[in-house]
Amino acid sequence: MKTLLRIDSSPRTKTSITRQLADILQERLENESSKTVQKRDLYYDELVTFGNEDRINGYFTPEEQQTDIQKTAIAGSNTLATEFAQADEYLFAVPMYNFNVSAALKAYIDLISRVGITFKYGEGFPIGLLENKKAYVIIATGGTPLDSDYDFVTPYLRVFLNFVGITDIEFIKVASTNTNLEQSLIDAKAAINNLKIS
Ligand SMILES: Cc1cc2nc3c(=O)[nH]c(=O)nc-3n(C[C@H](O)[C@H](O)[C@H](O)COP(=O)(O)O)c2cc1C
Repeated sequence: MKTLLRIDSSPRTKTSITRQLADILQERLENESSKTVQKRDLYYDELVTFGNEDRINGYFTPEEQQTDIQKTAIAGSNTLATEFAQADEYLFAVPMYNFNVSAALKAYIDLISRVGITFKYGEGFPIGLLENKKAYVIIATGGTPLDSDYDFVTPYLRVFLNFVGITDIEFIKVASTNTNLEQSLIDAKAAINNLKIS
């Protein structure tokens, strides 16, 4: 059975637009092909931290030479990166915060970007280790137009996912949740409905 990893990155729980839409898409994904669903709710996950010097040093120290402090400092990253690498599909729920992803999602991306787990180095350039994966990315903004010069979310997530090897990406975009919520939701739900799920 395939594993769907759902990644929420809004601190809002009851009123979050991205969570609401991710619920709808998750239901479709589960109904149309059976999947085990795992969840990471980034603002409420104790493994998602900014880390410290020990973590960085732990990343660059061979396992057998790591100190106990370094081992502890990278344990959360090991768990999250391995979980990410083992999933088959991803459902990201992403609010735009100050033109980019929220801090918790950036922290998570820093934690899952790991040599030997999600990417490796080729001859001087990185090679993504994740193959045959699919990502669904729901992005909501209050008013900043997506795909405009002010949108650093879409290109950033595309580059990051490509970097780890994920090239099959469906973006569901919900612009203007502050100014035109009703129509934004209608459009986003239609986009979810029209997705081809394999
Ligand atoms: C701290 C913060 C920063 C935000 N920055 C932007 C922004 O740069 N551009 C924008 O269009 N909306 C911005 N918004 C609005 C959110 O993107 C919008 O409300 C979105 O629906 C939030 O997703 P959620 O409903 O899942 O929490 C911001 C909201 C917050 C709380």
